[in-house]
Amino acid sequence: MYVCICHALNDKKVKAALDQGATTPASVFRHHNCQVQCGKCVPTMRSMASEHRAAMAQQAAIAATPATAPCCGTAMPEPANLEAIPAYAVAAE
Ligand code: FES
Repeated sequence: MYVCICHALNDKKVKAALDQGATTPASVFRHHNCQVQCGKCVPTMRSMASEHRAAMAQQAAIAATPATAPCCGTAMPEPANLEAIPAYAVAAE
């Protein structure tokens, strides 16, 4: 999908600029060595930049969550019949 008709910037090119650190429509244009002309694409680019920032913040929050933290705040108790459970069943728990 074309985002900017004036400079033939499609959504992939805009996303590439956002992935490289662009945060505003102006920085997307700078990334592609051009300048805003008619400005009709600016609201769409601004929206894409906002969604990109939200996605990056969500990924950062997920990455910051400790992987070893128990889900409910307490460790799961060992089953009383642990010796009777096959090893593959314990591994699946
Ligand atoms: S459509 Fe992007 S500057 Fe015109």
